[in-house]
Amino acid sequence: MICTVIILVVCICSTGYALNNGLALTPPMGWLHWERFRCNTDCVNDPDFCVREQLIMQMADRMVSDGYKDLGYEYVNIDDCWLARERDAQGRLQADPDRFPSGMSGLAKYIHSKGLKLGIYEDFGTETCAKYPGSEFYLSVDAQTFADWGIDYVKFDVCNSDSGDSNFGFPIMGFFLNQTGRPMIFSCEWPLVSAKPNFTAVRDTCNLWRTSHDMEDSWEMLSYVIEFYGNDTNGLSAYAGPGGWNDPDELIIGNFGLSYEQERVQMAMWAIFAAPLLMSVDLRDIRPASKALLQNKNVLRINQDPMGIQGKRRTIVSNIEVWTRPISPEGTVAVALLNVVGKGMPTRVTVSAKQMGLSNTNGYNLTEVFDGQPIGTLTPQESYTVKVNPSGVYFFTANPL
Ligand SMILES: *[C@@H]1O[C@H](CO)[C@@H](O)[C@H](O)[C@H]1NC(C)=O
Ligand SMILES: *[C@@H]1O[C@H](CO)[C@@H](O)[C@H](O)[C@H]1NC(C)=O
Ligand SMILES: *[C@@H]1O[C@H](CO)[C@@H](O)[C@H](O)[C@H]1NC(C)=O
Repeated sequence: MICTVIILVVCICSTGYALNNGLALTPPMGWLHWERFRCNTDCVNDPDFCVREQLIMQMADRMVSDGYKDLGYEYVNIDDCWLARERDAQGRLQADPDRFPSGMSGLAKYIHSKGLKLGIYEDFGTETCAKYPGSEFYLSVDAQTFADWGIDYVKFDVCNSDSGDSNFGFPIMGFFLNQTGRPMIFSCEWPLVSAKPNFTAVRDTCNLWRTSHDMEDSWEMLSYVIEFYGNDTNGLSAYAGPGGWNDPDELIIGNFGLSYEQERVQMAMWAIFAAPLLMSVDLRDIRPASKALLQNKNVLRINQDPMGIQGKRRTIVSNIEVWTRPISPEGTVAVALLNVVGKGMPTRVTVSAKQMGLSNTNGYNLTEVFDGQPIGTLTPQESYTVKVNPSGVYFFTANPL
């Protein structure tokens, strides 16, 4: 392994390699199976909910028929547990033949016929997290296999790997993906191997990168991730921008763990974070209110803002977090007033324009984001008073006058 690594690193340096695949100019949008469907391979007892091509195809169908695709949700992503336990005689990966009878190239054809793109999962280590064959020692052949199948997006995990090897291995995998000539989004869990990741190197290699724990279906996990971003841990916000994004993991909207207010929080905060929007929910059976949140055009427009500047927590006023994100056109600001405390009544809060960084002399027009309703004007000398629901958010834009 060491020898291979050294040779390839020389190769990468001498070609002046840096990520330039023209993809993910705004945060990727799509669906990812993991949070909702996990490693459920029991198609005998749980046929409608096990990880197999039928499930993936049904989600793709829903993305088209229920309007997600038209709003920009484009990637249909498979996570761990799609593989057969062994590579083939040529050392290539193969999908589990019982659960993916069309093979990955057959599935890719189906997904492409719907105007969507197919994402897949592998792991840099010797085995994936669920103990299927990993890519270590096979990076080149695996990159080529994905390209041959027509894969559009590769998520690469770090289970069962050595952190030192990962620091070499991810750039090498990025190099091999590039060498295939097929543009594929590269989604990396690489930062999770160290407490202080080198985000410059990560951004040079990856289109998006995971920053914290796997999302779980709970407010506890969601509020933990929001706090992690609120702390701007390791200065991560500075590294987001067109082509490369911090990834706080999947949207859990529409599942079991969040209240409606908490689902609004995730949607609003993922827009403030300029985060990839990867729904992990059963699209065949989603509550209309949750679907409406995932499809809210005003929120999606903020998430997908072309400037790609990640928002930050500016301050905290009487337990209400004040988050802002600069969006286009120039001078416009998206503001989220976030109540992470779940105490039993809405919190009335007064926040000054100054605390929100709203300094335009002529003032601003304010518009509530979720319903698109105008809510008045604000000058830089004024304050705004509003009630924010428990574990809820008040989300608005300020457009300069
Ligand atoms: C490979 O990298 C080069 C140099 O950065 C870039 O111009 C090209 O578009 C990349 N190709 C793919 C398929 O990612
Ligand atoms: C981080 O990575 C960049 C780009 O690869 C490199 O130039 C820099 O020296 C690295 N920084 C540290 C502290 O290792
Ligand atoms: C955020 O920072 C505070 C204060 O340093 C710390 O107590 C808390 O654990 C941090 N939270 C996360 C999720 O990193």
